[in-house]
Amino acid sequence: MALWGGRFTSGSSNLFRQVNDSLPFDHVMAVEDMTGSIVWSQALLSVGVLTEHEQQQIETTLNNFIARVEAGELDMSDSEEEDIHSVVEAMLTDKLGDIGRKLHTGRSRNDQVATDFRLWCRGHAKQLQQDLTHLTDALLKAAARHQQAILPGYTHLQRAQPILWPHWCLAYVEMFKRDLSRLEDAVIRMNQCPLGSGALAGTTYQVNRERIATDLGFSQPCLNSLDAVSDRDFVLELLFCASTSMMHISRMAEDLIFYNTGEAGFMQLGDAVTSGSSLMPQKKNPDALELMRGKCGRVFGHLQALLVTMKGLPLAYNKDMQEDKEGVMDAVTQWHICLRIAADVLDSAELNVARCREAAQQGYSNATELADYLVGKGIPFRTAHDITGQLVVEAIEKGCALEHLPLSAMQAVCNKIDDDVYAVLALEYGISKRCALGGTSQETVNEALYRELEKRDRS
Ligand code: ARG
Repeated sequence: MALWGGRFTSGSSNLFRQVNDSLPFDHVMAVEDMTGSIVWSQALLSVGVLTEHEQQQIETTLNNFIARVEAGELDMSDSEEEDIHSVVEAMLTDKLGDIGRKLHTGRSRNDQVATDFRLWCRGHAKQLQQDLTHLTDALLKAAARHQQAILPGYTHLQRAQPILWPHWCLAYVEMFKRDLSRLEDAVIRMNQCPLGSGALAGTTYQVNRERIATDLGFSQPCLNSLDAVSDRDFVLELLFCASTSMMHISRMAEDLIFYNTGEAGFMQLGDAVTSGSSLMPQKKNPDALELMRGKCGRVFGHLQALLVTMKGLPLAYNKDMQEDKEGVMDAVTQWHICLRIAADVLDSAELNVARCREAAQQGYSNATELADYLVGKGIPFRTAHDITGQLVVEAIEKGCALEHLPLSAMQAVCNKIDDDVYAVLALEYGISKRCALGGTSQETVNEALYRELEKRDRS
């Protein structure tokens, strides 16, 4: 039965219920709702609305429900009630009669849902923090497996300069570390308690809102009742965290899809994260990676959808806001799965170190080194760039690498070139020169890797 039936003479239409009922998706907040209700019953005890006995009855019954939900014995999704708040209250009243009917004193579903949803988001943020750490661990392991492997670095998907494999891994570690800190930061703002704000104007009962906040693990109560019940920026921030991190996952997936192509041949993905073709027997497709890239569409969409839903809403609560849940619930699920499977893909990947090295050696990625060499001989960089360009053209015509041009051919273009040029053109040379902080030299990369491994072992 609806919580608000008194003023109505006839019931809701079926179609209205289809659009209005949120139980099909908000039932997952059952434990949060019951936890909030226990704390609210304690607040009601403190202001004399409930007796000690009544509060005890409520608390015991709700704790019993929580245990059953957690054990998977109580599924609240198939109730006739419109939302999770109504189901919990109905079940309580079913058990305790009038005692259950007292619980909603001084409370509104508006402060209730805002509280439940913050608790739900906070709980999932904690899980996602672990998922992010799990993925950075997988990247560190992948880096440590091949500390000296060299592969081509790209710009415009054209071979640009060689880099170390762990340098690539650590680039994504940096991104996922920022995703983690962004999420932690979002949780700080999310972690404020709306309960005790009433429908919009505050509650008439002199409850201790600091106490309520603390009991629910919040850092403080929301300071304005209108804001507390009507803002959903904590959801938007979580969606933004999910979107940005999914974008990072997707870029990493795109790199790996390319590395795994027959054309690049830098790595082989494991059977557990790839699939075959029903027609072409030779195929082994990088489906997990493609899906990580593909899932971005819906996650970014959920962020956009909620921004649009919220933008025109007058204060305070409006039913439009019930649309805040499905998107983020899906986003959080997809983000979680993608973070976990990204780690599995990295664990399964086998790097073809020889092929990576060979590719890094091709594509004239040591041209910058040649230009720098000429600068060392007193030639202005712009001129050095031009001379090197001419030599690249010549090498392309001869079908060879820069280091395979005879000295005489090089000297014909620039007489400052000597046979010390060949050392500069060697693959390791360019890498070893990039030893300023953040560069790809073996020494800077090792330092970065050990720093991260140490941090991981300390935590
Ligand atoms: N199911 C609703 C939601 O998710 C709960 C709040 C309902 N409040 C109200 N005044 N109708 O937003």
